Amino acid sequence: MKRAIVFGATGGIGKAIAAQLAAKGWSLYIHFNHSSQEAEKMVAEFIDKYPSQEFFPLKLDFLAEDEVIKTTVASLLPLNAAIFTQGITNYQFLGSQELTQIEKIMQINLLVPIKITSLLESQLLKRKHGRIIFIGSVYGGQAGALESVYSASKGGLSSFAQGYAREVASAHLTVNVIAPGAVDTPMNAIFDAETLNEVKNEIPAGRLAEPSDIVFWVENLLDKRSDYLTGQTIYVDGGWLV
Ligand SMILES: NC(=O)c1ccc[n+]([C@@H]2O[C@H](COP(=O)([O-])OP(=O)(O)OC[C@H]3O[C@@H](n4cnc5c(N)ncnc54)[C@H](OP(=O)(O)O)[C@@H]3O)[C@@H](O)[C@H]2O)c1
Repeated sequence: MKRAIVFGATGGIGKAIAAQLAAKGWSLYIHFNHSSQEAEKMVAEFIDKYPSQEFFPLKLDFLAEDEVIKTTVASLLPLNAAIFTQGITNYQFLGSQELTQIEKIMQINLLVPIKITSLLESQLLKRKHGRIIFIGSVYGGQAGALESVYSASKGGLSSFAQGYAREVASAHLTVNVIAPGAVDTPMNAIFDAETLNEVKNEIPAGRLAEPSDIVFWVENLLDKRSDYLTGQTIYVDGGWLV
């Protein structure tokens, strides 16, 4: 049985990834932080649709103490893949942000994903085609004003993936980043329709990405034929920024 954990499975992109993987025969941990009802609903739907697979909701606040993170990761059944789609941003000038907010962004987007990767390493190394996929951002390659901390967190993920991939490549554990441009999800609900339209007009492809545009690349990285692609950041941005 192939089993994956989708961190942030209750988010716009995570939900689409989880739905597609479930349809493709994966058993899944549906990770969430606040959206417990959504996670329970997804698990119930998947169990109903795919009764021969296993689905578990898994709560973990990425702002929790290390001990909680360690215990949670230690409780997991063997995994073939970990997909990190959780993330937050804060659209503000650096000087207007609380220091605690800066720390939160780095912790949720970068530090805890690295810690969890470290905790999962020994079991992922045992798989034939282990996979770690981070959802980064186009801002990780081309940082944006008002999102400098977010950009730093995503650029950090790309750097981490590049270095770490070299540590584990001989065990066929691949580590990559899918870096979307603007995707039509609740994360962009902070912008009004006019602003989103301006963004759309800047994107050569003429539209925001749909979560399915991102899912496609995640699926390809999970394929065992992707064993030779590692340490990469793949920008999926309609030709926008990078
Ligand atoms: N949308 C875009 O335009 C866009 C563009 C480029 C990159 N991305 C990246 O793609 C990823 C997914 O984005 P999205 O648009 O799907 O975001 P979203 O809809 O806002 O979902 C965010 C997810 O992160 C989880 N999360 C938030 N705070 C958390 C915490 N403290 N601990 C653990 N999990 C937490 C949420 O869980 P709960 O709901 O359960 O609290 C939710 O599942 C993010 O990494 C984002 O940076 C998005």
